[in-house]
Amino acid sequence: MAKYFKIKGGQEINGTIRMSGAKNSVLALLIASILTDEKIIIEDFPNIQDVSELFEILKYLGSDIKTETDGVINTVIIDNQKIKYKPLLIESVTLFRASYYFMGAMVSKFGKCELLLPGGCYLGPRPIDLHLKGFKEIGYEVENFICEKHDAIRITKPKTIFLENKKVFLDFPSVGATMNIILSAVFINGKIEIENTAKEPEIVDLVTLLNTMGANIKGAGTDKIIIIGVNQLKGCYHQVIPDRIEAGSYLMLAAIASSEVVIENVIPEHLEALTSKLTEIGVALKIEIDKITVFGLDKSNLEAISIKTGVFPSFPTDLQQIMTTLLTQVNGESKVMETIYVDRFRNCIELNNMGANIEIQRKEETGKAIIFGKTKLVANNVKATDLRAGFSLVFAAMIAIGESKVYNIEHVLRGYDNIVNKLNSIGASIELIED
Ligand code: UD1
Repeated sequence: MAKYFKIKGGQEINGTIRMSGAKNSVLALLIASILTDEKIIIEDFPNIQDVSELFEILKYLGSDIKTETDGVINTVIIDNQKIKYKPLLIESVTLFRASYYFMGAMVSKFGKCELLLPGGCYLGPRPIDLHLKGFKEIGYEVENFICEKHDAIRITKPKTIFLENKKVFLDFPSVGATMNIILSAVFINGKIEIENTAKEPEIVDLVTLLNTMGANIKGAGTDKIIIIGVNQLKGCYHQVIPDRIEAGSYLMLAAIASSEVVIENVIPEHLEALTSKLTEIGVALKIEIDKITVFGLDKSNLEAISIKTGVFPSFPTDLQQIMTTLLTQVNGESKVMETIYVDRFRNCIELNNMGANIEIQRKEETGKAIIFGKTKLVANNVKATDLRAGFSLVFAAMIAIGESKVYNIEHVLRGYDNIVNKLNSIGASIELIED
């Protein structure tokens, strides 16, 4: 059944919305839960497609999963007492990218992992060589193989590994590789230093959970993480950090489509690369401890800017496509440079189909979009090519003249918790249609 959003543009949004727990954290946290036989309670998980898929995979391995909600905050209680090793040569692991954390967690827990290679958003090539380099340097055996025409991988722990001050250097501070190597190393015999690690808040969140479970990991949030192996981990309670990408998405939408919107449950320090750019554009913000108010009262004087994506704390690639929609509404020529996923511009074709004027330039290590503003957007039928492109088009449809349809919204539902209700609660007119 095809699903799409029907969106009536031009509605002013006003009010308060609460951000959910971070998608990119919770996927790693849930997989980390298999490292203990005791109960793990995770509060504030987002009710999104990727999480539902992951619950099914955990149940397949034997986890007992109980979820509760008070209507706002979702909690999951995971009991892994009956979990057993099974190869993950099943289609569901190919549906979202973070399933690759099973490599690190399963090799720690069971000494082996067989996994179909993960899918997720198509953003250009997304290699996992750095994850594998880390596993090999710890001493795990890594083999690629084909399982019923799918690429698959096998990681095996040899009988004995002793690491005396082992160092692993990541050629690039990859979020996934940093998390996966951490997961694979919690029970090592010895000590390991991972250098040039990613510093994203989601890594700090994973390490907070693991240390509460009894792991010995230092340096999360810096470019050097030190792990001393422990023998076992215990159960615990953990609250997921707020989703900075969801918050950034709604902040940018509110800057153009509202007169006043309050975004609650945010950690403003996680959003500084964005909020400083919004201020530069001319958007008025009030930043408090755990909420940000956006005042979109005067949109006539918003000015063009340049942004360049990079690793945290630089401007996140996951907010780049949404910023592009915003920049169609400011005066002058803006530039968006993408250095993480250089082909992440497929939303621009659809934005141009709605009346934007965006030119894409592609050179070796950088992709660039030049946005000529301000342009009037008009409704159209458009297709989301990936998760954040999807929000960028929902945003465009909300400020366009007329009624748009946004197709391929499976991508959007994979990552935005309760998006239809959240938007309608502040005055949008968006309907999820199933044909
Ligand atoms: C995570 C996020 C994703 C975000 C990205 C960058 C999750 C589930 N996804 O993805 O939303 O867009 O961080 O902030 O958390 N690379 C290699 N070899 C590797 C691994 C990565 O060359 O082994 C390259 C990638 O192609 C990319 C860059 O490193 O150019 C960053 O990738 P990485 O930080 O690993 O992103 P993900 O963890 O896949």
